[in-house]
Amino acid sequence: MSPSRPVLIFDSGLGGLTVLREARYLLPYEPLLYVADDAAFPIGRWQEGELRSRLLTLFEELIGAYQPKAVVIACNTAFTLAGEALRAAHPDVPFVGTVPAIKPAAEQTSSGLISVLATPGTVRRTYTRSLIDSFASQCHVRLVGSDALAELAEKHLRGEMVSDEELGQEIAGCFLEQDGRRTDIVVLACTHYPFLANRFRKIAPWPVDWLDPAEAIARQLVRVLENKEAGAPTETRDDALFTSNPQDRGLERLLAGFGLHLIKR
Ligand code: DGL
Repeated sequence: MSPSRPVLIFDSGLGGLTVLREARYLLPYEPLLYVADDAAFPIGRWQEGELRSRLLTLFEELIGAYQPKAVVIACNTAFTLAGEALRAAHPDVPFVGTVPAIKPAAEQTSSGLISVLATPGTVRRTYTRSLIDSFASQCHVRLVGSDALAELAEKHLRGEMVSDEELGQEIAGCFLEQDGRRTDIVVLACTHYPFLANRFRKIAPWPVDWLDPAEAIARQLVRVLENKEAGAPTETRDDALFTSNPQDRGLERLLAGFGLHLIKR
């Protein structure tokens, strides 16, 4: 464990690493603790009530054990469901959330056609619908739920074969043509998907902007930490905790590439 209070970055699996790498870049001296609830992965398929109580119980334990100075929920599926309840349960801990980047997409689109690529859970959320009503009512927003992409992103990241056909099927629904206009922005509303963005660019039927919110989330973390004591330069690697306690050399090597050392729960 890092000697000073870490910033805890949470996801169900490896997707939150897209946010961790931006946080590491902007906050090089801040001790980070990466937590993946991989025992529950993929959480995009979970029922809302069960997932909410699992997250609340897990965070009770994590916040008690690690006393983080801030928590980043680097997961749309978790934050759109339980963000409010987590903040209410831990009023002294600043939470930085991840929500589908519908507002920036609505501000940037030229065609007015935007798609939101997310897990089935995020697509179903009231939170997502209200983002559309509040910020994108003038746009045509297509919600595309994928049951497979988070797992495919993990395979890709682990160096396993993922075919263009498999990916193409999952993103096909994002591309819409209407009255001579075409979708011009696809919101990557699952933190796993930026790992596949270059693959998506190659197979897309036409070029679009793939909106990755990771940098904006890291910038929000910087703002939240402004009044807190800064971390100091250390030689140590940051820790990563996976709830299934995996014995996996491949995973250890992958995490080492992100400056992380796998610890036991
Ligand atoms: N990375 C998560 C997100 O941003 C979801 C992956 C999963 O289904 O577990 O929504």
